[in-house]
Amino acid sequence: MTSDNPDRAYVWSWLPGAEEPIPTGVLEAIPAPGGGFVVTFAYGRSYLANDAAIPLYLPELPLGRGRIGPGPGLDVAGVVRDGGPDAWGQRVIMRQFALDARVHDPGEVPLLAYLLRSGSNRPGALDFQNSPSEYVPRLHDAPIEDLLIAADAIQRGDEIEPGLAEALTAGSSAGGARPKATLVAGSRNVIAKFSSPTDTYPVIKAEAAAMRLAQMVGLNVAETELVKVAGRDVLLVDRFDREGSGGRRAFVSALTILGLNEMAGRHATYHDLADVVRQRFVGRKDTLRELFARIVFNIVVGNTDDHARNHAAFWDGERLVLTPAYDICPQARAGGEQSQAMAIGPGGDRLSQFATCVRAAHHYDLSEAEARRIIDHQTQVVTERWDDVADDVGLTGPERGELWGNQVMNPFASYGYAS
Ligand SMILES: Nc1ncnc2c1ncn2[C@@H]1O[C@H](COP(=O)(O)OP(=O)(O)OP(=O)(O)O)[C@@H](O)[C@H]1O
Ligand SMILES: [Mg+2]
Repeated sequence: MTSDNPDRAYVWSWLPGAEEPIPTGVLEAIPAPGGGFVVTFAYGRSYLANDAAIPLYLPELPLGRGRIGPGPGLDVAGVVRDGGPDAWGQRVIMRQFALDARVHDPGEVPLLAYLLRSGSNRPGALDFQNSPSEYVPRLHDAPIEDLLIAADAIQRGDEIEPGLAEALTAGSSAGGARPKATLVAGSRNVIAKFSSPTDTYPVIKAEAAAMRLAQMVGLNVAETELVKVAGRDVLLVDRFDREGSGGRRAFVSALTILGLNEMAGRHATYHDLADVVRQRFVGRKDTLRELFARIVFNIVVGNTDDHARNHAAFWDGERLVLTPAYDICPQARAGGEQSQAMAIGPGGDRLSQFATCVRAAHHYDLSEAEARRIIDHQTQVVTERWDDVADDVGLTGPERGELWGNQVMNPFASYGYAS
């Protein structure tokens, strides 16, 4: 084993309510029959002997002895993948590899290297370590201005000071594709989302506006705050997977809940997720209603990037509870016709239209009348509050003019729907 190509990593986890992590098991990269590697997981003896131990996720990692391979189509258990860096974090880490090992493609960096290099302040209740007996967190405390500068440099392909690269890497474990860093200020734990030099519209302000409007229409949504850093907009998203005491709350993405890999993620559907809600979630009726309302809202604000890693549920060892909504961001759009990333109704019905939602309402245990009430309420609130919210987040007249009727409340959404 080398530090660039480790063949094992130790999983540490925070049990529900615990303030410190405990050794939980080991991940091992083993050659896959068709080439490449798969990563297996085995619980450690001390963890199995702990009466409070919970399975990291079911059905994929049941408590018990022996190695467990990833499910069909996966190269690592979904719950482990959810704790690792996604496109942005991989890009940051790859930069380090490119500097020390001439790596040019994120796919060339071994999965376990991503897990062991990324920061410890990662999503959910897992961390990955070199040792099963000594916990050494990879954390940083660089000022947000420096992280923003470093993120810009990564995107431009410029050199960054080693210290800053390290700080950005430590904050690289949050998932997603956009530039960001994790930050801790006192007891506040946030994900800071940065703008990108390649943005063609004010993405951060648009996301801030959408997250506020989501709250106003009554969705359960992560708290956000729009701040200026070095004259630039940064969205601070309060984390729902952290507890004031130092505890961490486990959660899994809908991709994991549906047992899919990234490539198969395009087959993930809202109606399959609704089926799992019916079978396994706490508060089935309310959760289905909330899920439906989130779909409607994504259509209202033109968030077509509603893929299966942008939905998640808390996991306590037995039950699933929908997390607050996050990453609701109006997406660039050319013209009217548009589809959601996940199909809303059976048969791949995914057009970004309220009529699609009404047709599928029964699948979310809602009557047509209830579905219409949700849609009409949201369109009314967004229409009434848009100007105030746009003022609050500092959208200029031309910027708001470009968003309204294009990303937000595009007339295409209402074709075939009469309120
Ligand atoms: N409020 C939150 N609390 C805890 N974890 C969060 C929160 N918001 C986001 N996350 C986690 O961080 C990841 C990245 O965040 P987010 O989806 O906002 O980033 P993004 O780069 O815009 O994503 P995408 O690639 O979908 O555009 C999410 O997939 C989720 O796992
Ligand atoms: Mg996302």
